[in-house]
Amino acid sequence: MWHREFIRESLSAVSKIVSNQARRNRLCFSTGSLGVANLLLILIMLIAQLSDIHVRPRGLLYKGLVDSNRMFSEAIEHLQELDQSPDLVLLTGDLVDEGHPDEYEMVKELVRPLKAPLLVLPGNHDQRQALLDAFPDHAYLPVSGPLHYFSDDHPVRIVALDSCPPGRHHGEIDSRGLEWLFDTLSADKQKPTLVLLHHPPFVCGIPYLDDYRYINHEPLAAVIGAFTNVEAVLCGHVHRPMFRRWAGTVVAACPSTATQIALQFQSHASPRSYVGPPACLLHLWDPVQGLVSHISYIGKYPGPLPFF
Ligand SMILES: [Fe+2]
Repeated sequence: MWHREFIRESLSAVSKIVSNQARRNRLCFSTGSLGVANLLLILIMLIAQLSDIHVRPRGLLYKGLVDSNRMFSEAIEHLQELDQSPDLVLLTGDLVDEGHPDEYEMVKELVRPLKAPLLVLPGNHDQRQALLDAFPDHAYLPVSGPLHYFSDDHPVRIVALDSCPPGRHHGEIDSRGLEWLFDTLSADKQKPTLVLLHHPPFVCGIPYLDDYRYINHEPLAAVIGAFTNVEAVLCGHVHRPMFRRWAGTVVAACPSTATQIALQFQSHASPRSYVGPPACLLHLWDPVQGLVSHISYIGKYPGPLPFF
């Protein structure tokens, strides 16, 4: 693999980075016993992001039309078939469509084949208490809403924000949430960090999506912009891949594993969706190269062909 070549050629140059990274991540091993190359490999991580999966109770279709359960199951299979197993899987909201306990039971059944740790985040279609009731073993979740949390269990720090006011479809974080975010980011200004929230904090230009956008993004931008270690802000909600420079970092919106919103910009355009192509984001973190995010399409396509 390319990074193994790089390691062989750059051991001395990266040793300082690796040592700092190990210290930041409080990894308990000796650089002498493992060697710099092995340490660097330990600190490389693949983070899979799935979003807007809109699971339904067994046997029911999303909006009566789309087999979102089967499509989510195929997304999980897709992750299992990657040539590098994800170290962490993120579900960035709309785990289910209507917030029913039966839907969350279905999510739990469908994620069972996953070997990597799973972090969940609510979207506007989720129901906080039903989500909490479904995942009592997810100790990172607070006992009540809003469901902001962080995880320091990996080489990349995860800070998750609940941008979903109950019963509403737009995105918003109140002043207490922003204070929590500031305090949480202040607790470690060095470790590379990903911030998660369901709603992308920008106007995307698709009118029927912007009706349900994150509102009043400036206070959130002021907090995130104060920290240089936020590698990216990862979102869902818009059922399309989107990327934007924002608050000194990059916002990436993840496609849905079920339906993709039609790309239309005219103000009179009416809402439309397509069943596919389903996709997820794969974020490859490397302490030397930084973060690279890939769109990974789910499904079988002709190929591979013997050229590139
Ligand atoms: Fe959604």
